[in-house]
Amino acid sequence: MKNKTKILTVILILTTILSFILSGCSSAAPEQTTSAGEDAPAGLQGVERVDDGRTVVGISMPDRLLERWNRDGAYLKKQFEKADCEVILRYANNLIDTQISDLRDMIKEGADLLVVTAVDGAALSSVLEEAADYGVKVIAYDRLLMETDAVSYYVSFDNYMVGVLQAEYVISQLGLNTESSTRNIEFVTGDPVDNNARFFYQGAMDTLKPYLDSGKLHVLSTQTGFYETATAQWSTDIAQQRLQIILNSYYPKGTRLDAVLCANDSTALGATRALQADYNGNNKVIVTGQDGDIANIYNIIDGSQSMTVYKHLQEESVVTVALGKDIIAGNTPDDKLISNSAWDFDCTYDTEEYNNGNKVVPSYLLRPIAITADNIEKELFETGIYKRNSAGLIYTGE
Ligand code: GAL
Repeated sequence: MKNKTKILTVILILTTILSFILSGCSSAAPEQTTSAGEDAPAGLQGVERVDDGRTVVGISMPDRLLERWNRDGAYLKKQFEKADCEVILRYANNLIDTQISDLRDMIKEGADLLVVTAVDGAALSSVLEEAADYGVKVIAYDRLLMETDAVSYYVSFDNYMVGVLQAEYVISQLGLNTESSTRNIEFVTGDPVDNNARFFYQGAMDTLKPYLDSGKLHVLSTQTGFYETATAQWSTDIAQQRLQIILNSYYPKGTRLDAVLCANDSTALGATRALQADYNGNNKVIVTGQDGDIANIYNIIDGSQSMTVYKHLQEESVVTVALGKDIIAGNTPDDKLISNSAWDFDCTYDTEEYNNGNKVVPSYLLRPIAITADNIEKELFETGIYKRNSAGLIYTGE
């Protein structure tokens, strides 16, 4: 008898231990909430953070009015859901406070990873610290997150190259290397709280510097500085108003303007409207852009805008999802994320270029391409990135 009881007791103990061990692995772990005590960050004290084994990804986009973020948000959501992640996608209406509360909600909802495109790159340090306190990983998507250690990685395009491509187009179209005549240009750059805007600006200015220094290229408004040429919130209206003032102040009848270097398509739209309203010359003014917004695609086809720099957003989301999955799996991705991938596009792993003021953030950078009326059909329509419906209206194909 005694032996039998002993054996049964041992089996019982073993099964209890076993069931205890097994409960940790399964995804259906009982819902645990960690309520934040006094030591929790101010914004999260007393807040229940759900942690139930689901893989949750919070995607925080800056704004729906700037066309591209609608596509980025949709691509990222689709790709992360395909990777069995639960996605919380929010748009911040270009409002910093909204973005901060969006991110706080995502932390409360148990986000394991935050993918963030900042309205203002330097305004999120405190909420990102809160995320870090809960071990939530952060990827800066397209725009670098500044002055924080909480960001693990940055995914974007070669932002400096964007400005170089715009400037090179101006140099070739104005014949600055071939013709002797001098030319006039004005600049409409981006939102100064967007770290990308400085890279676009620097790429363009470094490329045009020899012509500005030699006097081959003139800026009649004398406005060449980053802040004096900036456009808050990348706003079309602000860009239009500023250029209209410049046209009315410095370009009376007979004074020729040859080019307006605009940092992106929403500002280019404003510049085109200002030229249509207030430019007296009858020459075709070169207008640059970036993003491939639908309205600007039409303008490139009808000639009112000269070029845009296209960034294949699908590639940016593919890289971000692969990176996100690797981070969630507890790995520390590096250049092997690229070499081990089957991607059919260029991507560079950079550990020098992007210093956010606290540290150099390891970055995955993609290659932008210049789009003009000459290659738009081949690069954007034949590839199916853009399509036309039966009425000829253009829409994004992907
Ligand atoms: C930048 C982005 C550009 C453009 C701009 C305005 O950060 O890199 O592609 O979209 O914002 O949204």
